[in-house]
Order: sequence, then structure tokens, then C-alpha cells
Amino acid sequence: MEHIQRTIDNIIDFITPNIDCVSTHTVHFMVEKLWETTIPKPILNQINTSPSFDNLIEELWDARKKGNVSNTNSELVKFFQVADQFRLTSLMNDDYIISIEELFKKLQGRNCGQIIESAKVKQHMSEKKSYEVKVMSQVVAAVTSTCNSSHIIDLGGGQGYLSSILALQHGKKTLSLDYNQVNTHGAAVRSKKLEKLWIRSQKRQESHASVEHHGKNWKRKNKAPVCTIKEEELVVCKEHCKQITHFVTPDSDISSMLSTAYPLDSLHNICLIGLHTCGDLSATTLRLFSKCPSLECLVQVGCCYHLMEEEFVKSPFWKDVDTSLYEHGYGFPLSEHLRRKKFFLGRNVRMSGTQSPERVMDLKQTQTLPLFYRALLEKYLRSKVTINDEDPKVVGRLATKCSSFEEYVHRAVKKLELDFEVDDTEISQLFESHQREYQYLQIYYFLKTALAPVIEALIVLDRVLYLREQGLPESYVVQIFDPLISPRCYAVVSMKPTSARQNE
Ligand SMILES: C[S@@+](CC[C@H](N)C(=O)[O-])C[C@H]1O[C@@H](n2cnc3c(N)ncnc32)[C@H](O)[C@@H]1O
Repeated sequence: MEHIQRTIDNIIDFITPNIDCVSTHTVHFMVEKLWETTIPKPILNQINTSPSFDNLIEELWDARKKGNVSNTNSELVKFFQVADQFRLTSLMNDDYIISIEELFKKLQGRNCGQIIESAKVKQHMSEKKSYEVKVMSQVVAAVTSTCNSSHIIDLGGGQGYLSSILALQHGKKTLSLDYNQVNTHGAAVRSKKLEKLWIRSQKRQESHASVEHHGKNWKRKNKAPVCTIKEEELVVCKEHCKQITHFVTPDSDISSMLSTAYPLDSLHNICLIGLHTCGDLSATTLRLFSKCPSLECLVQVGCCYHLMEEEFVKSPFWKDVDTSLYEHGYGFPLSEHLRRKKFFLGRNVRMSGTQSPERVMDLKQTQTLPLFYRALLEKYLRSKVTINDEDPKVVGRLATKCSSFEEYVHRAVKKLELDFEVDDTEISQLFESHQREYQYLQIYYFLKTALAPVIEALIVLDRVLYLREQGLPESYVVQIFDPLISPRCYAVVSMKPTSARQNE
């Protein structure tokens, strides 16, 4: 545990002097002159003295592509290099942050048997979801096989795709809990569709196996099947895949719900899972897992860190919150180590943690022009009308629909129903006179990008540390997804000590 605590403390030491960059909002960039307080002085000096801003940015892209660049003069590249040291991928070790291969090795060391590759079901799911379901179901199947789990409970099961595949392909009985009735009802319908789909794909597999002897399609046998189904090919799937509409809290008696769903079954070594358990549902999942003896293993991937409630800082939306929900603890922090420090991040910082650095840096998906428009609009509006910070002006994704700043301002003023005339000359001058600030904003955006995985590391490590503090040493952070496809790519995997296991 000391290792995790030390890593967390190192992350905090790095984040603290840079916190203004991630705790501020881009909307206020111009109004509050945020470049003065958020961009480190060496970087700011370099921008101000460099003959070409474009070359500075090119150098950053180039350095990211090449990987480790030593002897760079670019302060921006150096910033990224330091931040990189605190990403979960850089912190990987054999102990508490491991790769998916390392996890499978550990499971095989504990007799999980063969790791079975899951099918990729394309129909009814986005490409991203079908990829996530394929990978996650394979991990869950391996963990449940290691722990000899009779059943799986899927918290925040949503549309029920994951549970369906676990039931259909891996023969696991599942119970999906979600507070949204539309989801649980939809999940029941979809699992019927998927069952039929699955049966058909199995038949196709068999026919491919027979072709194999003629050497024609021999490669197919090693591949997981890819399935498609027509709407009319539906049958009922109700034996292995059940749904209950329920708002899960750390007090929920989920074992009883499982008994109700499967009254004739003998339940043992139950596996708790959650794919993209948004906001506080992640903390709830971990609390339930650690306190409920019938839960044997856990595979959980979080998301939407900005929706969490923190113990040591109130969100701006706190007035809408039902405080009784937090009698059993908040979404962050979970570990005693951070709770003793009364550590907090704040909503803007957590929001920054949800950015996808891979998509920005590897795919060059920078979208700073809409951010610049919005920040400049704020400055313009404040010169015309009084704006109450408690009731911010929301224009949504208007910038993507506009071909110029002038058009954007006109449409924003109309949308906000503000009562003043827009002067086009004034708008053009405002835009032209803020080009240097636009450069600063781009740098600010890059710094946020560099810090995003560091914030995520802190949030995820807090979760694993919590589990280890509860006496669960086999608790790991595992990168299970490709971050370019699925940015929230880290799972928390935990297995209770072998001695506690029943019915083996
Ligand atoms: C991001 S979605 C993920 C859905 C699904 N696991 C997937 O990956 O497609 C999160 C789901 O959790 C559900 N949820 C969030 N908090 C919950 C709670 N406390 N109890 C039950 N369901 C919850 C939401 O309704 C939503 O369907």
C-alpha cells in the first residue's frame, strides 16, 4: 500500500502547482486573462519570443510522434514529458497497475483455464460499444472462471449488451441493475434479439468448421465470430439474463435481488461488474464489493468523473443534491489516505480528467477555435450586459455551425435573447486584436491535455488504494481498452483472498 500512497503523493506534488490550469474554465480565459496564471512562465516566455508560433506547435506534434525526445528546447514538449511520468501507462508495474496480458497471466496462475475470446456483435451497438463489450466480457469471463462464480451482477447495466454476451457466449447467469426503466426494459428486448443473433452465429461457426477441412476458410476458426441479425429473427432470452430497475446505493441488498431473480439457483462467489459506471456509481460499486461477503470478484470501469460528488468540496449544483444519498460516503476520495488529507479536486479539475489526450495528440483532434469563439464571446457580452456567474449564459455547440466569429456572435445574441445591436466592425476588430490570446488559449488547451491523464491516474489509484485498505491485496488497475477507441480504458479488477472463497 505504501507504493500506491507514494505514487498518489507524487502525483499531487506535480498537480498542485499546475492546478489553476485545470481548475479554471475556458469560457473565462479572456475575461480573467487566464494565460497569466495558468501557463508556466518559461512556456509563456517562449511563445512571446518565438518567431513562429506554428513551429512551436509543429515541434510538439513531432515530439509526440517520435516518443521520447531528449535535448529539446521546447518548454511545451518538456512539460508533456514530465506529465507523461504520471500517466497510468508510465506507472505500470507488476504490483498494482498491470497490463491486460499481465492480468491474464495472473489468472492463469490461479487456474482460470483457457481465456476465451469473445464474439464481436455489431448489430444494435455502436462500433465503440461492440469493441468494449467484446474486450470486457472476455476479462469478466476469465475472472469469473478463476473465482468459480455462479452469477454476475452488472451495476448500471444500461442497454444490457455486456450481460447478454456474458450469458450467451460464456454461459454466465447475469442480473443487470439500472435505475433507468427505459434501459432495463430496453435491455430485456435487446437480449432477446441478441440471443437469436447468437444462435445463428453459432450455426455459421459450425459450417465454417466443416469447410476448414478443405483448407478454404481455415483462418476463420481462430477469429471470434462477427454477427449480424435481421429484425424478424427474434426469440426470447430470459433464463440467463435478467434485469431489475433499481437505484443502487451502498445500502442496496444486491445479493437478495440476485436470489429473487434466480430463486432456484445456488449462488456462490458472485462477480460484480460495471462498464462505465458513471459518476458516483463507481464508488458505490467498490463499497458494495468490499462490504458484501457474497461478492467474490470485481471488474469495474468508471467514467464521467465530473458527475461525482466530493466529500471535501461541494459542486456548484449541490443545492439540487439529495444529501441522504451521501450518508455512506462520497464519490471521491475513497481511500483513507486521501480522506485524511481532506483532499479535493473540484468539478472543473474532474472535468479536465475526462479529456482524451490520445484523441487530441495521436489523431490531432484539437478543437480550439470553438473554445476561442466562446471565450471571446464572453468578453464581448460582459462589455454589453451584466452577467451573473450563478446563472451563466449557455450557447451550446453553436460555433461548429458558424463559418465566422461574426456569424457566431449574431446567432449567440439571438439565442440568448439579449437586447442590443451587434456592430460587425466592432466584432471584427475584437477578433483580430485577440490573435495572440488565441495562441495562449491553444497552449492552455495543450496543458490541460497533458494534465488530463494525471488527474485520471489520481482518481483511479484512489479506488485501488481503497480496496487494498479494505484488506483486498489482489486489487489492480488494468488497462483493458485501447484509449483511441475507448478513452475511459482502465478497469479496477479485484479478487478476494482465496481463503474467503466458498463452494470450490
Ligand atoms: C454510462 S452508462 C453505461 C451503461 C452500460 N454499462 C454500458 O456500458 O453500455 C451508466 C448507466 O448507469 C446507470 N446508473 C447510474 N447510476 C446508477 C445507480 N446509482 N443505480 C443504478 N443505475 C445507475 C445509468 O442509468 C446508465 O444506464
